[in-house]
Amino acid sequence: MTNLYRKQIKAVIFDLDGVIVSTDNLHYKGWKKLAEEEQIYFDEIINNRLRGVSRMESLEILLENSKKEYSTEEKAALAERKNSYYVELLASLTPDNILPGVNEVLKELKCKDIQVAIGSSSKNTANILKKIALFEAFDAIADGNDIKHSKPNPEVFLVASKKLGIPPEYCVVVEDAVAGIQAAINADMTSVAVGDAKGYELADYSIDSINQLLDIVI
Ligand code: BG6
Ligand code: MG
Repeated sequence: MTNLYRKQIKAVIFDLDGVIVSTDNLHYKGWKKLAEEEQIYFDEIINNRLRGVSRMESLEILLENSKKEYSTEEKAALAERKNSYYVELLASLTPDNILPGVNEVLKELKCKDIQVAIGSSSKNTANILKKIALFEAFDAIADGNDIKHSKPNPEVFLVASKKLGIPPEYCVVVEDAVAGIQAAINADMTSVAVGDAKGYELADYSIDSINQLLDIVI
């Protein structure tokens, strides 16, 4: 892999869910429980569309299959209910849920003086990072509580870059969601696609495993 960005990269901004930690199945279980209670059809294919999407936008996708119309207040209560199920499930999260290679990559980036941040749509970011014992591992955290517009809007990554004090052109974003890659592009950052987003043609790089990130930035 060519290393065009060698001198320019000063920070890596990681998405959280699906890049640092495996929470997909917990989100799925939370939405599935809500969908069953409301008698709305929901499956893993629909769940894939929720990747990188905010809680309220996820609910709107789920409600595409609902026969019932919900008021704004009812929708807020549904989202809150799903979150309570999800938070219950997060209680079981441990450092074992950190995705393969992540700890090694974080360590290596630190050694090379490359700053690391989180850029996540999740409002549960701090809770999740504490559960997996990585809360102290990042130089900055930008999450769903910091933003008004979710991915593909670049806001969360621009907040992370501002918190780090490193301009976008020096930042790399690692994402598993197409909406997240688009957000990185909209932020004028270098984008690296992993997992579900791998192979997305607009990403600057696609990698099979997070360890390959080191070939790009170091
Ligand atoms: C993203 C997940 O990281 O966070 C989405 O990929 C999720 O699936 C979104 O909907 C919001 O999460 P939370 O924890 O605020 O409900
Ligand atoms: Mg993700």
